[in-house]
Amino acid sequence: MKTPSPFHTIIEPFRIKSVEPVKFTTPEERAAKLAAAGWNPFLLRAEDVLIDLLTDSGTGAMSKHQWAGMMRGDESYAGAESFYRFEAAVRDITGLRHVLPTHQGRAAERILFTTVLKPGDIVPNNTHFDTTRANIEARGAIALDLPVPEARQPRLRAPFKGNIDLAALERCLAENPGRVPLAMITVTNNSGGGQPVSLANLRGAREICARHGVPLFLDCCRFAENAWFIKQREVGYADRSPLAIAREMFACVDGATMSAKKDGMANIGGFLALNDEMWTTRAKNNLILTEGFPTYGGLAGYDLEAIAVGFYEALDEDYLRYRIRSIEYLGDLLVKNGVPIIEPTGGHAVYLDARQLLPHVPGSEFPAWALSCALYLAGGVRGVEIGSVMFGRQPDGTEKPPAMELVRLAFPRRVYTQSHVDYLGEVLLHVHGRREKIRGLRMTQAPEVLRHFTARFEPIAPRLFA
Ligand code: F0G
Repeated sequence: MKTPSPFHTIIEPFRIKSVEPVKFTTPEERAAKLAAAGWNPFLLRAEDVLIDLLTDSGTGAMSKHQWAGMMRGDESYAGAESFYRFEAAVRDITGLRHVLPTHQGRAAERILFTTVLKPGDIVPNNTHFDTTRANIEARGAIALDLPVPEARQPRLRAPFKGNIDLAALERCLAENPGRVPLAMITVTNNSGGGQPVSLANLRGAREICARHGVPLFLDCCRFAENAWFIKQREVGYADRSPLAIAREMFACVDGATMSAKKDGMANIGGFLALNDEMWTTRAKNNLILTEGFPTYGGLAGYDLEAIAVGFYEALDEDYLRYRIRSIEYLGDLLVKNGVPIIEPTGGHAVYLDARQLLPHVPGSEFPAWALSCALYLAGGVRGVEIGSVMFGRQPDGTEKPPAMELVRLAFPRRVYTQSHVDYLGEVLLHVHGRREKIRGLRMTQAPEVLRHFTARFEPIAPRLFA
């Protein structure tokens, strides 16, 4: 048992060995850059962004142990040592038998879904992430979101708002025999606010799925952050290590898709892990078609090494305490000042509630998108819209208002410091103070799928801040 520290400040549990300069721009420069990017923050050059919270995916800083691991990367085409180290780490944490490396999470999704789905099938999940949904719909199948009702109430403080609605899952499986090849649970629930899923909920889902003979998979991108929340919030887990908790989470499932760009602490990579022999054989053939030989799956040997080290660093208690606290710190400041966010704060991001913040901007004028543009204009901060642009368009081409209009400010791992977060807080309060001036946008150009990446817009009024 460690002696508790008498000091309360939670510091970054690292010091900095290599720095990346950031560039300062003026509001006028930013207005010109955003207009040239078609009012789509995805189309900005990263160097024109001061604090980049577009995503926590692949944007983290690696440790010296990861860099050292990369030096011993074995680049053999087949059977490289690096693969066996990667496989051993994934098996150790997940307990799953077969491990297929992929270049990132969506490759694992595509391989899994092309292997097991046919048109008309249904895949329930607490909430599908956009790439998961798109890969399911690309197979002609239905991606069904079954979050618990409290997930839809941004202000409601509940410990596990990422949970899947077990009664709805039971109904879905009972009403659709033979149409549900697998069910999924996303930890943490990214599109629902980065909220965690409890072990009780995972066990409940496992029991229901087992009774209906349906395999259960985890979308486990942020498994370590989820394990930390279980340690903090679920009765009986305070003294368990994040690793032990993660193992219990994986013990509930038959397979997992992973983007190692999140809790793999790496800049690229992922995996599909599963127990079923027949699915594995077919998935491997699929993998060879597009990713590469099954012992590298689209990654370099050195990537496999960085990830094998990263999984354990993501489970480190000092790291998790600092990570979750820095997000909560920003959240506390915003709540204290009346800025509407999803409460409590989640694992990797703060989610601003744009519907609440900009009640004068109708859904058809993309309030969350407008808010994300306002943050860039005001302070060079880049977040991502999770609202009508990302999720409003239905597979049949019609528009439907999404459950929430959010701007996600996702924190890259081990990248920004306390003063960056303080600056961010100032920018957010400044924009909040001028919220009544913010006007909406119209979409001038958009592709059919995943339109948020490349759509172009223009402000309805001559200026975004009227
Ligand atoms: N599942 C979840 C829950 C995710 O958050 C992501 C990626 C993926 C799957 C796909 O993984 O990007 O490696 O192909 N989320 C990133 C984000 C892009 O910004 O939240 P990928």
